[in-house]
Amino acid sequence: MRAVRFHEHGSPSVLQCESIESPTPTAGTVLVSVRAAGVNPVDTYFRSGEYAVPALPAIPGTDGAGEIVAVGSGVTAFEPGDRVFLTGLGGDGSGSYAEEVVVPVDQVATLPDGISFETGAAAGVVVGTAWRALVDHAALTATETVLIQGANGGVGHVAVQLAASMGARVLATAREPYHDRLESLGADHVFSYDRDDLAGAITNVGAPDVILETFVDEYLQFDADVGANGVRVVCIGNATNEASLTAVNTAKNKDVRYQFMTLFNAPDLSAILERVAALLDSSDVVPQIERTYTFEDADDAQRDVLEESFLGKLVLIP
Ligand SMILES: NC(=O)c1ccc[n+]([C@@H]2O[C@H](COP(=O)([O-])OP(=O)(O)OC[C@H]3O[C@@H](n4cnc5c(N)ncnc54)[C@H](OP(=O)(O)O)[C@@H]3O)[C@@H](O)[C@H]2O)c1
Repeated sequence: MRAVRFHEHGSPSVLQCESIESPTPTAGTVLVSVRAAGVNPVDTYFRSGEYAVPALPAIPGTDGAGEIVAVGSGVTAFEPGDRVFLTGLGGDGSGSYAEEVVVPVDQVATLPDGISFETGAAAGVVVGTAWRALVDHAALTATETVLIQGANGGVGHVAVQLAASMGARVLATAREPYHDRLESLGADHVFSYDRDDLAGAITNVGAPDVILETFVDEYLQFDADVGANGVRVVCIGNATNEASLTAVNTAKNKDVRYQFMTLFNAPDLSAILERVAALLDSSDVVPQIERTYTFEDADDAQRDVLEESFLGKLVLIP
């Protein structure tokens, strides 16, 4: 089979498309013929060496979708021919940027009829994270206001849709060219994050009860400043490894709650994937595919996911 691998850590140019042996499913796993693989920032962290893989060469890729071709012993929930999507791969060096991949059954869910492999491959990490953040951690309610930071991003644009489907009032930050599309996805107000009066503009329309934060290192204090009393700030992303407050008293006086999270700490990932499948099936959440790439262009895809600005997701097609 063809697979994208890296033999050393480094820039995207270390990614190579190679011919290697197909893997064999073991007990409790399924072998999936990958039709599409989602591209996420986390894929680049394994390639660069920021996150460890147990051995090299390694295949990156957290998300994917395709058809089951074989099942390991003890697997009864799936059979060959089933259309599925999957998430949480890559950390063991056997990710989804491959024509075939072995996946534990609790990291696979049925792809609803009518949902394309591209959409399924785009969904796992970002819709799962939005669900875990807004539902499990923040317990967002229909009477509340939520602020989604980085709203045109992979997580942000599906979080806007999820929050709107929950009935919440949705505030979002993104560059100006994305404002109309984010409003059509469910945002009530969209703010450019580079405006000088951002905090005032947000609080003028109503301080958020919940904030989904994608740049913790830059906005830790900002979130305390703009949040309502008791604001729940769910922190999912950071550009650097340091974050600090410059006015602790503001956070104290508002009883601010910061919840840091990683999707893959979820105690029951398969339950989250079932919810993701239901959201795709109902069209409450529709991941937007900005662009597709071939495996041979995986280096461009990993470069673009970090360096380019776009709305939605990048997807590899083998
Ligand atoms: N904890 C978890 O489980 C988890 C899960 C998924 C993702 N993450 C992390 O969450 C972050 C976002 O992931 P993603 O997939 O949504 O990435 P993404 O698609 O690259 O989106 C990043 C978003 O942040 C925006 N942004 C850039 N600079 C900003 C700034 N100074 N202020 C506000 N927004 C800014 C980007 O806007 P432009 O396009 O205009 O630059 C874009 O909308 C990443 O750090 C990722 O590693 C964590």
